[in-house]
Amino acid sequence: MHTTEQLQQILETAIQNLKFPDHPKQLYDPITYIINLGGKRIRPLLVLMGTELFGKDAHDSIHAAMAIEVFHNFTLVHDDIMDNAPLRRGKATVHEKWSTNTAILSGDVMMVEANKNLAKVNPIFLKDVLDTFNATAQGVCEGQQLDMEFESRDDVSIEEYINMIRLKTAVLLGGALKLGAIIAGASEKDADLIYQFGENIGIAFQLQDDILDVYADPEKFGKQVGGDIIANKKTFLLLKAFELADGEIRESLDTWTGYKDFDNKEKVETVRLVYDTLDIQNIAKESMNKYLEKALYLFNQINVGDAQKSNLLTLTNQLMAREY
Ligand code: IPE
Ligand code: IPE
Ligand code: MG
Ligand code: MG
Ligand code: MG
Repeated sequence: MHTTEQLQQILETAIQNLKFPDHPKQLYDPITYIINLGGKRIRPLLVLMGTELFGKDAHDSIHAAMAIEVFHNFTLVHDDIMDNAPLRRGKATVHEKWSTNTAILSGDVMMVEANKNLAKVNPIFLKDVLDTFNATAQGVCEGQQLDMEFESRDDVSIEEYINMIRLKTAVLLGGALKLGAIIAGASEKDADLIYQFGENIGIAFQLQDDILDVYADPEKFGKQVGGDIIANKKTFLLLKAFELADGEIRESLDTWTGYKDFDNKEKVETVRLVYDTLDIQNIAKESMNKYLEKALYLFNQINVGDAQKSNLLTLTNQLMAREY
């Protein structure tokens, strides 16, 4: 079993060894650009940890880990078009640096590259691996569609929101762990438990992402702070605020989310003030904790010893406290 630092080293080496064609440059340069901007590499780490949890070596699932990280980066390239985002990992987004058409096509070919990595998985696991990967990728698309539809709806419930983030974000964390488990030959029951654990961690992860979108230190965050407020994203924070606000605060919220033209900075500051007044950040953190506890309850039922579980537990706690 490797330490987390060793797993990260294995990942970095594999990422640096990823090879993409040279031509057309406009198609492939954005791939190396976005991947070399870094990121936390959480999902591929989850693949490797999923394998080592069940007693096999991380190298067994390195190709699946690469597939997951390339796929994740593809979703970010397209997500940034959809969210009209200027910044990613502290640098210009692909559609800003090149063009929207380039970002669409480079994203598409990243999906192909992800599949090429999957094809390198040990054939005895390939059917299960493909089924899990496809279910995951399809879930992400469904979640992203709901996320966009919710922008223009004003009757989204918290339950619908949780289902939307489960799809757009959490299935990928669950799927990453499950791929690792499948490649380790884990039992179906354990593979399902680790998937459920990942999904609940993923929901907490997206809640934290929504909090950071409003409250992060822009230097550390690497994304535009306030982007969700500008786009009227139906985040947990906005939905809770609508639920709790009355009187003047409610009026202010209705006015600012109703404006077609507004000053971005002014809108972000006003809505953030509404959140502060209603203590929304703490309510969101309580909700995160609920999903964390659910995740840990499931994790406890996995049939392996405590020592083998320690890396994942430490990572989980770090994720809940992250600042970017
Ligand atoms: C960003 O994911 C997309 C979300 C699901 C919130 P990360 O926060 O893991 O992004 P990177 O890969 O570390 O940049
Ligand atoms: C992330 O949602 C979901 C996917 C990228 C699939 P966000 O739109 O909140 O992610 P960030 O904040 O741009 O990273
Ligand atoms: Mg988005
Ligand atoms: Mg986004
Ligand atoms: Mg976000």
